[in-house]
Amino acid sequence: MSLIKLINLPNLSDDRGGLIAIESDQSIPFEIKRVYYIFNTANKPRGFHAHKDLKQLVICIHGQCRFVLDNGIKKDEIILNSPIQGLVIESMTWREIHEFSEDCILLVLASEYYDESDYIRDYDEFLEFVK
Ligand code: TYD
Repeated sequence: MSLIKLINLPNLSDDRGGLIAIESDQSIPFEIKRVYYIFNTANKPRGFHAHKDLKQLVICIHGQCRFVLDNGIKKDEIILNSPIQGLVIESMTWREIHEFSEDCILLVLASEYYDESDYIRDYDEFLEFVK
């Protein structure tokens, strides 16, 4: 089974333009405790970590980038380029983000407050965790 889980977000767009409304624990499978966004991207990859508990939903609201997800056994990847779809990233998933377009804006909804101790930033350590 692919590690790429996409959610079609509630789309209220009409002939006046796009509108997506996301409700915590309703349209996405967790309570939202934190929101952040990545913008003004250089063409430098990001991520290279997993989270022990954190779940995230990533929406590329403008531009595009390539996500690689890895559970220690397999890797899957996807080009994110749609503001109407969200990529669910479960806990214990190594993620890398590559090939940001210059205009890329990534909106991230997170299930927990920021906690550095939830990060696994070393790939070998990640492999030990998922063994
Ligand atoms: P990081 O999660 O490593 O970024 P990316 O995975 O996109 O490469 O975060 C970069 C830095 O910002 C790191 O020092 C942690 C800090 N940070 C916070 O303080 N709060 C947050 O909510 C996030 C996402 C990061």
